[in-house]
Amino acid sequence: MSETGEEKKFIKEAFDSNWVVPLGPNVSGFEADLEEYINYPVDGRNLEKKVVALSAGTAAIHLALVNLGVKAGDEVICQSFTFAASANPVVYQGATPVFIDSEPSTWNMDPNLLEDAIKDRIAKGKKPKAIIPVYLYGMPAYIDEIMEIANRYEIPVLEDAAEGFGSRYRGQVCGTFGEYGVMSFNGNKMITTSGGGALICPNEEKAKRILFYATQAREPLPYYEHEHIGYNYRMSNICAGIGRGQMTIVNDHLAHHVHTKDVYKEAFADIDGIELHVAPEEYMEPNYWLNTITVDPDKFGMDYEQLRQVLDKANIESRPLWKPMHMQPVFKDAPAYVNGVSENLFKVGLCLPSGPMVTDEDLAYIVETIKNTKK
Ligand SMILES: Cc1ncc(COP(=O)(O)O)c(C=O)c1O
Repeated sequence: MSETGEEKKFIKEAFDSNWVVPLGPNVSGFEADLEEYINYPVDGRNLEKKVVALSAGTAAIHLALVNLGVKAGDEVICQSFTFAASANPVVYQGATPVFIDSEPSTWNMDPNLLEDAIKDRIAKGKKPKAIIPVYLYGMPAYIDEIMEIANRYEIPVLEDAAEGFGSRYRGQVCGTFGEYGVMSFNGNKMITTSGGGALICPNEEKAKRILFYATQAREPLPYYEHEHIGYNYRMSNICAGIGRGQMTIVNDHLAHHVHTKDVYKEAFADIDGIELHVAPEEYMEPNYWLNTITVDPDKFGMDYEQLRQVLDKANIESRPLWKPMHMQPVFKDAPAYVNGVSENLFKVGLCLPSGPMVTDEDLAYIVETIKNTKK
């Protein structure tokens, strides 16, 4: 399938109109496209979220934490089973991440452990300043349960939907449940701007504040006056042009990822020891950004790493699942509430090729290679 849509048209327009800067018609056009994509009536309720386009998903997490008032010495709860970019901005603020393990069906934040951790941190005299659940590999989390706990303890939620663009939970786009939601348009994501991200904000006022921090926190005066520390995190008009083009084919991309899931699902149903990770509830609609499997060495005859090496020799790129943050040397001193789920997944899981360039022929070759590998 085609990886690209009308990107060149939007980029050409940017050059023709001399908007080769971090603002301009493509930036506001891309934001409008994203707002249209996420805001629609759900259960008779109309979402009216605002989107601010930024230089990266990591920048979006960072600015959300800034706006939430996270400061040095604070604690922020973060899903442990994730990519480091979910947690790093907590440290940029001088705060400490408190890691929460996953539950086994979505592989995302375990709501029970979340509540245990909140109670424990409060008992220790430190109420967490925010909660960062993640939609890992595009799989929705048990967000209703997480939101219920967060609301009860009055702790804001910042959803890391960097991998979950277009995933839905009870019909609503992931990233629109909490106070803030993060999108990433890095090269490997559902849609790309070459590099970029965006923050979903609850209203115009908060979006304006995010924009203020993203553009060096300049006070509204004719000269350069600064009362706050700012950042250079705005998306450029060129990148936004790519994003606008990608939005013309986003539904094709989503359909393709779901198609790869269907092919893998059917094929692996017959292979003992290989299990595809699929939505555990019918009200969850993952984007299947990356299709992931777990390998049972007793049934399959080899472990995930041996399988990875076989695939590698056959020119098929597969990757181990994310190594949980509580196992990372850089976070060894951070508090963690664990149950063994993510640690176990890390020891048995692989990500399989799933992107728009993976053809049906490729899928057949991948499936055949895995079938022929089984001992
Ligand atoms: C879960 C998760 N969070 C955050 C990010 C950061 O996004 P970006 O690369 O756009 O900074 C990524 C991807 O890179 C990610 O996978």
